[in-house]
Amino acid sequence: MPLSSFTPPRHVLITGASTGIGFACALDLAACGFSVHAGVRRDRDGARLLEAAAAKGLADRVAWLPLDVTDEAAVNRAAVAVGAACAGRLAALVNNAGVVLAAPLEAMDMADLRSQMEVNFIGAASVTRACLPLLRAFAAASPRPHAARVVMMSSIAGKASLPFAWPYSASKHAMEALADGLRVELGPQGIDTVLVEPGAIKTPIWDKSVRAGEQRVDTWAPGLQQLYGARLQAFAELAKRAGERGISAEHVCRAVRLALLSRTPRVRYLVGNDARSRMWLGRLLPARWIDWALTRAVRGRGPTA
Ligand SMILES: NC(=O)c1ccc[n+]([C@@H]2O[C@H](COP(=O)([O-])OP(=O)(O)OC[C@H]3O[C@@H](n4cnc5c(N)ncnc54)[C@H](OP(=O)(O)O)[C@@H]3O)[C@@H](O)[C@H]2O)c1
Repeated sequence: MPLSSFTPPRHVLITGASTGIGFACALDLAACGFSVHAGVRRDRDGARLLEAAAAKGLADRVAWLPLDVTDEAAVNRAAVAVGAACAGRLAALVNNAGVVLAAPLEAMDMADLRSQMEVNFIGAASVTRACLPLLRAFAAASPRPHAARVVMMSSIAGKASLPFAWPYSASKHAMEALADGLRVELGPQGIDTVLVEPGAIKTPIWDKSVRAGEQRVDTWAPGLQQLYGARLQAFAELAKRAGERGISAEHVCRAVRLALLSRTPRVRYLVGNDARSRMWLGRLLPARWIDWALTRAVRGRGPTA
């Protein structure tokens, strides 16, 4: 899809910019001419991002701000700070912050499940809500239709679920519903909502989720190890391999760029061949066949596998 030739809109807020896709997108969008406001949770991550920006000669285009998307007061403070920096007109928001919870339902702490939805879904809704006046003001000042953009960093998991990682899939399915609804709700105000749906991307998220899963196993009730241990282990190995084979975050940056700069962006951008093939397999194959293949993939080698 050709990029429009107009000057890129000025200010963009991106959440979860400490590592991975958010970090790469922050630098990429700065290189495209955006003034980037990067949300991070720790000062040292903000400093690291600024160092990377400075190394690319982009120090004047990147600013970081503290932003935990689950903290409503912090979200509102961030919106006020960004509003002050962009004269009340924000061209784009990239809802990128995300975590992965993978565990058997029976071994799951409900607080962890709530937290999964809080970060990936409610957090995205909360930041979007706080930024709407700024996005609307940008759209109103622009002669172009749909000038302001909200990007939702979903996943192919927003289309298809997996054993153990279904909490993550649920949060991304919810994000897809949010985006599909907002596209029509906010469209008349000049704000377009675009989904980016990557497959496996090489970022720290895979190791983080595997490590968190391993720590949780220690707290499992008696008997659960026997029921799920080997299968969860098989799943963790698959996830680890997928992460190792993942493509670079630059591919996602390109999709985000298209979502922000294209005159008529697509509704959704699939990123990676694995995402495309998973989507087509999901459409073409009967669900029971997919269940069978997944059951085999995570059968493990333990006594209950
Ligand atoms: N990597 C993939 O294969 C892949 C595929 C599809 C979709 N995605 C999506 O891409 C997005 C970025 O993930 P990534 O792969 O780049 O992983 P990542 O490197 O782990 O980045 C996740 C980011 O989210 C932040 N975050 C976590 N909890 C947060 C909270 N409560 N408030 C604010 N920020 C929070 C993290 O900050 P901290 O460092 O402070 O924890 C980090 O900056 C996620 O939404 C993920 O679901 C990734």
